[in-house]
Amino acid sequence: MNDTPQPLWASEAFWKKTAIWVTAGSFIVLVVLTFDSLSQTKAGGTRVPAYSVINKKIDYQYQAKLFKSIPVIGENEFLFGKELTEEEAFQLVDLGKKTSQAKNCMNCHTLLGNGAYFAPDLTKAWLDQGWLSTQLREDAMVKFLIDPEKNARTFSSNRKMPNLAITEAEAKGLVAFLKWMSSIDTNGFPYNFKTIYAEQ
Ligand code: HEC
Repeated sequence: MNDTPQPLWASEAFWKKTAIWVTAGSFIVLVVLTFDSLSQTKAGGTRVPAYSVINKKIDYQYQAKLFKSIPVIGENEFLFGKELTEEEAFQLVDLGKKTSQAKNCMNCHTLLGNGAYFAPDLTKAWLDQGWLSTQLREDAMVKFLIDPEKNARTFSSNRKMPNLAITEAEAKGLVAFLKWMSSIDTNGFPYNFKTIYAEQ
């Protein structure tokens, strides 16, 4: 019938091989990207500082060259007046993270942009100007988390955070978790955020 030689791309074998190579190639790219993401998202990795960063002053400053704000880790600024080892810092942040999951903060808030839009994003809550001064901040946050109804800071949204029966230890863990989260390089998110230091 048709005995003119077929071009390579018209043969079934060619497309079978191509499918195999493309699948294998994509698989390798996925494996490489998975390990790359792990190195970028692990505490102590490129973008996410180790937990002991909560011993430091953390700010978030606009870099005109990069067209975005980046976290700036400064001098010592111990949380609750005590320098923590890496392990102690991990324990405290971990308690906070688990409390945030147990109490489902994401049901109202976003964390790193994920969650609900009822209440403010918590990614940089540690740096929020609403805490008024860096001297009062830690206590104000703990008090607020233990009893957000009595210690509501702003009614600008006319929304109140309900009492979630958070203990003092859990509140301190949450503050550590929020401080640590504010040190994460989120590639400029949130945009145009003025920190408590910018106000002073
Ligand atoms: C039922 C909804 C709801 C849940 C659940 C909730 N919040 Fe809130 N939260 C709010 C509202 C509303 C506000 C704003 C009210 C205010 O500032 O007084 C707020 C404010 C805050 C603020 C101050 C925000 C800022 O930018 O400084 C922090 C910090 C906070 N919440 C932490 C938490 C944490 C941690 C959890 C989980 C343990 C949590 N919230 C769970 C509703 C909620």
